[in-house]
Amino acid sequence: MNNIPFTALVVHQENENFVRSLETRHLDDLPPGEVLVRVHYSSLNYKDALSAIGNRGVTRRYPHTPGIDAAGVVQASEVEHIRPGDQVIVSCYDLGMNTPGGFADYIRVPANWVLKKPDGLSLREAMVYGTAGFTAALSVHKLMQQGVRPADGPLLVTGASGGVGSVAVAILAGEGFHVTAASGKDADAFLAGLGAEEIIDRQQVSGATDKALLRPRWAGIIDTVGGDILAKGLKSTRAGGVVTTCGNVAGAELDITVYPFILRGIALLGIDAAECPLALRQTIWDKLGAEWKLPMLAELATEISLEQLSDSIDRILQGRIKGRTVVKVA
Ligand SMILES: NC(=O)c1ccc[n+]([C@@H]2O[C@H](COP(=O)([O-])OP(=O)(O)OC[C@H]3O[C@@H](n4cnc5c(N)ncnc54)[C@H](OP(=O)(O)O)[C@@H]3O)[C@@H](O)[C@H]2O)c1
Repeated sequence: MNNIPFTALVVHQENENFVRSLETRHLDDLPPGEVLVRVHYSSLNYKDALSAIGNRGVTRRYPHTPGIDAAGVVQASEVEHIRPGDQVIVSCYDLGMNTPGGFADYIRVPANWVLKKPDGLSLREAMVYGTAGFTAALSVHKLMQQGVRPADGPLLVTGASGGVGSVAVAILAGEGFHVTAASGKDADAFLAGLGAEEIIDRQQVSGATDKALLRPRWAGIIDTVGGDILAKGLKSTRAGGVVTTCGNVAGAELDITVYPFILRGIALLGIDAAECPLALRQTIWDKLGAEWKLPMLAELATEISLEQLSDSIDRILQGRIKGRTVVKVA
């Protein structure tokens, strides 16, 4: 069994450059692990693109196969509670970072990374959400846990047409929130279709300002980009508002004072999907398969093959992708 050949996207370091190609690997190239999964679908996340271009904060060793998400069928398992034939999701933890990831026909992983697929989702639908959709749902869950409700006022979603942003817009709209979507693209029809009531140009919420506080506007923010957009958003959040932060595509620096926190009592919640505890992870996936299952899930995704991945990696790095990209592997 160990010599079974399979296809994987492999990134090699050549001096300062990182080159990617589809290659034949064998099962014994995979690391040890309790569960072997035949991957049916994966998905493209911003972090995968960082891994593919040699970002050391994501991946330290090359050659490497990215892909932080995988959904597939168990082929072999050393643990009782996961059996061959089970349909499973593996996402986050170290998959695709320093462990060969889901852009391949097979992955081998520790049993505690493996989640049973919720009944309400197909393997493909699970990967339409993928880590980005999971992160959006985790952000909404944490924001609502703080007591933010539709009657409190408008919520801002930044990077709204991206993977995390688009799913967040749709879940919030489904919960009855008035969603303002901030985007740098011409994505009005797409965002309105997800349920955004107001669509604004990203520039309206970006740009540095010396002011410690701005006109209070948002009851809460799901921020997916960081940088001066997050700083400006915090300064524009109403008293008692809640802001989540998960991404850094607009910058990792945060230029603010303590005043939004000590004069308006707002809360800034960090979101870390990678290390989310298994029980909360299961709760969030179950919600995605039930009350948060989006009616427009099919329209949210563009399906690509492993052969088309390299081009899509370039496009996500340029911020040109709308919604989610699901990768058909098997
Ligand atoms: N903390 C976690 O656990 C976690 C989990 C998943 C993802 N993330 C992070 O969340 C972020 C979004 O991930 P994703 O998968 O949704 O990526 P994505 O699909 O590429 O979406 C990012 C969106 O941000 C906007 N954007 C791009 N460049 C920008 C810039 N320079 N300034 C402002 N906005 C910009 C674009 O949307 P518009 O054109 O609509 O503005 C883009 O589509 C990434 O930083 C990712 O690493 C973190």
